[in-house]
Amino acid sequence: PEDFYILAIESSCDDTAAAVLHNDKVLSNVVANQSIHAEFGGVVPELASRAHQQNIVPAVTAALQRANVTKEQLSAIAYTQGPGLMGSLLVGSSFAKSMAMALDIPLIGINHMQGHILAHFIDEPGFDKPEFPFLALTISGGHTQIVRVDAPFKMELIGQTTDDAVGEAFDKTAKILGLPYPGGPLVDKYAASGNPDAYSFPKPKVPGLDFSFSGLKTSILYFIQKNRQIDADFTDKHMADICASVQKTIVDILMDKTKLAVAQTGIERVAIGGGVSANSGIRKAMEDAHKNLGWKTFIPKFEYTTDNAAMIGISAYFKYLDGDFTSVTETSKARIEF
Ligand code: KG4
Ligand code: ZN
Repeated sequence: PEDFYILAIESSCDDTAAAVLHNDKVLSNVVANQSIHAEFGGVVPELASRAHQQNIVPAVTAALQRANVTKEQLSAIAYTQGPGLMGSLLVGSSFAKSMAMALDIPLIGINHMQGHILAHFIDEPGFDKPEFPFLALTISGGHTQIVRVDAPFKMELIGQTTDDAVGEAFDKTAKILGLPYPGGPLVDKYAASGNPDAYSFPKPKVPGLDFSFSGLKTSILYFIQKNRQIDADFTDKHMADICASVQKTIVDILMDKTKLAVAQTGIERVAIGGGVSANSGIRKAMEDAHKNLGWKTFIPKFEYTTDNAAMIGISAYFKYLDGDFTSVTETSKARIEF
């Protein structure tokens, strides 16, 4: 099969996303955000499942319309099998299974974290696809991983967080500073006009390629509490410097481990993925690593950083080529590794 269309659905967390791909090209990429969670300062699983139910048909309809593709033209339906929130995953998987059955076409289940990595294989002008093997630094609200990638589905986890994910470190910092959820992008925004050396925070001592972010969160909390006692307006006055300093610390932690992974594996090709790869600090650090260390670095197009269905579609593209389909009796998995 040389020429095919795949509809992909991603519903692992709080965004309902649908995309249509023609082979490895993205024709449409729709994301329905759930604003409801901002009120609660985080994702409320029960509300997320309910919002997916409201959004999934409109998101799929919009994806087909924008792609100018009919249901009858589709060759396969792809969906996120896990990891993620069970209630959210079930909405996407049930919808995908029903649609695949109705159209009598293959179903393809995808691992969300592999999707973040394989997003680099979307055919996009101006973006190179990584050659194998390469290292992937996958950084999101739920994960912080270093993965050795030898083939599309031959991936080995060589480092991961032992506690909080890096996205949580950004979001919890934002919460301490009184910024709304999800705070990561706001910390990034304030950091742009701040001095990254204004304050210093301790870096965790974790052996090997693993990460830890819970200590950093605690030290930021104490730092803010202490300074607010002296000056109640401390955070408002110094928001940019605080954000820039926190962001620098986080980026340094990520880069230290990535450098170690490159040294240990001898692989000098590094791709970043996941919501935190939208962060301007880590993007710049990767550009610098290319310039100063000679690595080949792969920085995703902005729309493929945070959760999206195009990354699920491109992963399904590889499985479709292999005829690697998923049974309709397969279950969703809240936790899966590679
Ligand atoms: O991949 P993603 O959309 O969802 C998960 O699979 O978790 O990642 C969401 C995470 C959130 O923690 C969000 O604050 C963070 O990515 N994020 C950022 C930025 N944009 C999104 N963190 C820092 N800087 C950003 N620009
Ligand atoms: Zn994600």
